[in-house]
Parts: sequence; structure tokens; C-alpha cells
Amino acid sequence: MTLRPVVVAPSLLAADFARLGEEVARVEPAADWLHLDVMDGHFVPNISFGSGVVEAVRSVTSRPLDVHLMIDQPDRHLAAFARAGAHSITVHAEACVHLHRTLHTIRELGCRPGVALNPHTPLEWIRHVLPDVDLVLIMTVNPGFGGQAFLPQMMPKIRRLAAWIRRLGLEVDVEVDGGINAQTAPLVRQAGANVLVAGSAVFGAEDPIAVLQALKAAGQRSP
Ligand code: DX5
Ligand code: ZN
Repeated sequence: MTLRPVVVAPSLLAADFARLGEEVARVEPAADWLHLDVMDGHFVPNISFGSGVVEAVRSVTSRPLDVHLMIDQPDRHLAAFARAGAHSITVHAEACVHLHRTLHTIRELGCRPGVALNPHTPLEWIRHVLPDVDLVLIMTVNPGFGGQAFLPQMMPKIRRLAAWIRRLGLEVDVEVDGGINAQTAPLVRQAGANVLVAGSAVFGAEDPIAVLQALKAAGQRSP
């Protein structure tokens, strides 16, 4: 079985917002993508930042920006995030009444469309849009906050999604987000994930580069 290459994406949610430019520079050498968590205080209980911050980050890095929208009615804001320089835009299936249309709008805006699922949302919810996405994000914690513990019951979900993608012969990234660290990275990789998002494990460390390299190595270890 050939797995897609490992991508490590530090989540800026765990960065020091007062020194965001420096924080980006601190992780950039070992980051494949930068993950930006947008929260609206409705879809999730927390508020983080909007397209202005994405634009600011865009101006200090050339790494692809992986924008994760944890917001209600994302359609209202897609153009703003595309303009701000998002490379991929991921919406939550639970927040989209017309998910297929939303994903196509993201592509028309020139970004890679992604769809995310909360831990309790069945994989079946996205079955019929798999040919329309470049990325599926399996939440491995309840979205809203960094620093939570990985939910091991998400493992069969990751495995099943990877099998669907393989069977259909699609080129779709399997992203995991929440509680990813040196211990959980090899497990999720083995289950079929290839994009590893990590916030507190990276920014909470003395040497974030070493952590990102360890995550990449853990993810690359053959199953
Ligand atoms: C959670 C966010 C995550 C968060 C991950 O709602 O989507 O991207 O930053 O943080 P850690 O890696 O600390 O679990
Ligand atoms: Zn995220």
C-alpha cells in the first residue's frame, strides 16, 4: 500500500499572538504547511481570528496556508479567506447545509477544498462529496481548543476513510487535528493519515523544529 507523503502543519492557535511573525519564522523551516484555526464563538465555544490574520501571516511566509474554518455559514466568508491567501479552505460538514455547493465554491475561488468532521459525526456524511474534495480532516478532539487529549476511538474512522479513498482511487489528503504528538503520530499514520496538524506539541516545546522533525519521522516510519 503506498501512502501519500507526510505533511506536517503546525497550528498557529498555540503560537504567541503578540509575536506572530516571529512564531511563524520559528516553525517555518520544518513546516510543510501552516494551519490556521478560525473560530466564531458559535460553531465552537471559542473565538480565535479572521481573514485579516490569515492575510498578515501570508505576508511573512511562502508556505501553503491551511485554513480550518470552525464557523457557521462559512459561505459568507469564503471569498475573504481566498483573497487573504488561503491555499486550502476546510469547512465543517456539520456547518454546511449545501456542502457540495460550498466545496465547489472553494475550488472556483482557486483554493483546495477540504471537509472536516467532528468526532461524533459519521463518516457517511461525506461519502458523496469525496470526489469533490482534496482533503478530509478527521477531528481527533472536539474542536474549539488546543491542548486536548487525542481521542483513540477516532482510529477506526481514519482507517475506514483511508480505505474508501484507496478503493475509489482518489487523490485526497487525510488530515488529523487534535492531540497529535510524537506518541500519536505513528498511530494515525499507520491508520492512513498523511497530514499531521499539531499545536501545543510544537509551540509548547523548547525546540519546535526538533518536534516537527520528530513528527515527520514518526509519520514516515513504515507501518
Ligand atoms: C482545535 C484546532 C486544532 C488545535 C490543535 O479545535 O482545530 O488545530 O490547534 O491543537 P493541539 O495540537 O494542541 O491539540
Ligand atoms: Zn484545526
